[in-house]
Amino acid sequence: TQAHIFYKENAMYMENVSITAIAQDIPTPFYCYSYSSISESYLDYEQAFSQLDTLICYAVKANSNQAILTSLAKLGAGADVVSEGEIRRALKAGIPANKIVFSGVAKTHSEISYALNHDILQFNVESEPELQLISELATAQDKIACISIRVNPNVNANTHAKITTGKSENKFGIPITKARDVYQYAASLPSIKVQGVDVHIGSQLTDLAPFKQAFGMVAEFVSVLRKDGHDISIIDIGGGLGINYAEDETPPNKNDYAQIVKQQLGHLQCKIIVEPGRSIVGNSGILVSKVVYVKKGEERQFLIIDAGMNDLIRPSMYDAYHQIKPINSHNDKNAYYDVVGPVCETGDTFSKNRQLPIMQATDLVAILSCGAYGSVMSSTYNTRMAAPEVMVKDDQYTIIRSRPCYEEVIKQDIIPDWV
Ligand code: LLP
Repeated sequence: TQAHIFYKENAMYMENVSITAIAQDIPTPFYCYSYSSISESYLDYEQAFSQLDTLICYAVKANSNQAILTSLAKLGAGADVVSEGEIRRALKAGIPANKIVFSGVAKTHSEISYALNHDILQFNVESEPELQLISELATAQDKIACISIRVNPNVNANTHAKITTGKSENKFGIPITKARDVYQYAASLPSIKVQGVDVHIGSQLTDLAPFKQAFGMVAEFVSVLRKDGHDISIIDIGGGLGINYAEDETPPNKNDYAQIVKQQLGHLQCKIIVEPGRSIVGNSGILVSKVVYVKKGEERQFLIIDAGMNDLIRPSMYDAYHQIKPINSHNDKNAYYDVVGPVCETGDTFSKNRQLPIMQATDLVAILSCGAYGSVMSSTYNTRMAAPEVMVKDDQYTIIRSRPCYEEVIKQDIIPDWV
């Protein structure tokens, strides 16, 4: 599950590189990813879906580093993107436009034009006004826009409220009960080619039942659409397969997930698009940090580390659980720590009362399962420089994003001459 991360003589390794060795070279905090783990996760998807005509469109938002996108491009991945910036990243990494799907509720005029110009595979449309704008722009640019409509099946994904998307109260998609009319409308618009149905019910799903329910509804809906005369050849099933964060979690595996897809949708003879993000990169990355101080409070002991909520916001934002492990585990005696960062907010807490070996200043720790929604959600709050990113392959490692220097960042600001 945490593939390619293990201990050798009490020292943490990723593939064949000691994390301590990297930390001697690159100041903490930094993100560190295993190339082999990422590529194996991708290939596991290909294997699991090999019985279906499938295109795996990696959800770029999970981790958009060019080194990762390029690695996946070379393995044949497509991309699920949500902004012009992500389209540019995907194209630059060598992902062909005909493997790019464009999702998101707020695609702007210029983003749609950009996507049309590059002839992407499809727009996953989320509203009628968006449909109308795509039609107008496609007509003006003398293009045909291929579209799927994102339907909202109103199923409960049993995941965190902030990352559930398939309930009717969420802003996403068009209620499946109303979508038939929207397909009629789409078919009536110039320069629009209706080619598929799209659904995405949420992220970090640890149970397959909501997928099964949603895909069953999509299957029925596809039959209805076909009777209405629409030529539906693509079903985009979104992403959302969960990973294990806690040691004892066992999220569904890719094969069982693919079986559900086959069982619910296989008979329709459609091309299946799947948009996994977290389940490709999540468990392939760690955030490496150094203990700055051990502070004994009145009631608790704080392990103050040099990574903060600006580097990894998931614990503060979703109360997300991440395993924290010592990089060198010489000490068998344990203590309980609140692991906190340097940022001036109480929310800058990675875990409360976590049992760890007794630690001291300058010891290194790894926060696990940080490959997805880690670096990409970071900020420079407190004028902290974005953590660099490192990729390991076998016995080599390379910086794949460097830490900006202070001068570079400060000089982006412009002081008006009237100040
Ligand atoms: N497709 C669509 C339309 C999506 O909105 C998402 C994620 C994905 C695919 C990829 O889902 P995945 O396979 O990674 O679960 N920041 C949150 C997660 C937000 C997910 C947003 N949408 C977190 O840190 O948990």
